[in-house]
Amino acid sequence: MLPAYVAPSLESDTPHSEVQALAQALSLPFVCQRPLPTNAVGLIVSHGGMRLLVPGNRALAWHAGFAPRRVQDGPRDALVRALDLRPGERVLDATLGLGHDAFVLLHAGARVLGVEAHPAVAYFTARGLVSTAPELEHALEVRCARAEAVLADPALPPIDSVYIDPLFPRESTVPNPMWAPLRGVAENTRDLSALVAAALGVARRSVVVKLAPGEPPPSVSHTAPPRRVGSKRTQYAVFDCVAR
Ligand SMILES: C[S@@+](CC[C@H](N)C(=O)[O-])C[C@H]1O[C@@H](n2cnc3c(N)ncnc32)[C@H](O)[C@@H]1O
Repeated sequence: MLPAYVAPSLESDTPHSEVQALAQALSLPFVCQRPLPTNAVGLIVSHGGMRLLVPGNRALAWHAGFAPRRVQDGPRDALVRALDLRPGERVLDATLGLGHDAFVLLHAGARVLGVEAHPAVAYFTARGLVSTAPELEHALEVRCARAEAVLADPALPPIDSVYIDPLFPRESTVPNPMWAPLRGVAENTRDLSALVAAALGVARRSVVVKLAPGEPPPSVSHTAPPRRVGSKRTQYAVFDCVAR
């Protein structure tokens, strides 16, 4: 995982003191000199917003991607169906990323606890989600942490379902410019069994894992194999929890 920093945009008239305060609040280094670091991920703050700068990529302003189109599908969305989501349920999105799935789940009536290991991505996404859909802020909490640590938190509120969308292996997907910046940044959890097992210890109804095309579902010892649901394009493994 690449380290992160916070920097004021060159065209910004945002006072440096505000950007510095943000860096301090996020416990990230404040950088104002140019050129910007090439071995770290920047949150570039301007008066009107924020961009994520991943070395080798163009600075990215947060946008919801295809999620608004999925919102129109309502209960027919493949993830909403895989979770069998009921309004008001709390979903722990263990791999928040850019928050597109969280955006869909929030609009479908879920309360979302989004967990993202990378500090720059976590803040960028939380801010993007809230500024794009301020009416859903009350239903969203974002924690910058590893999902394994959050799942082990004894003070965790009741969780109905856990959703896990790990970064797919590069060779299993057609390159997608939307996710290219995350590839350079992200935490990579490919050994899913432990994460799924921890999630099964917490979720009341289900644990849903997004699968790469052709990927077999993760196997978890002492747990029945998951159901496979979704479409040809998007497949999920659904582990049903025993009622508790
Ligand atoms: C494929 S992206 C998730 C995309 C997301 N579903 C969306 O709609 O934008 C995976 C993200 O999960 C994060 N991640 C991977 N393993 C993690 C873990 N164990 N705990 C917390 N975050 C993790 C990565 O840093 C990355 O940002």
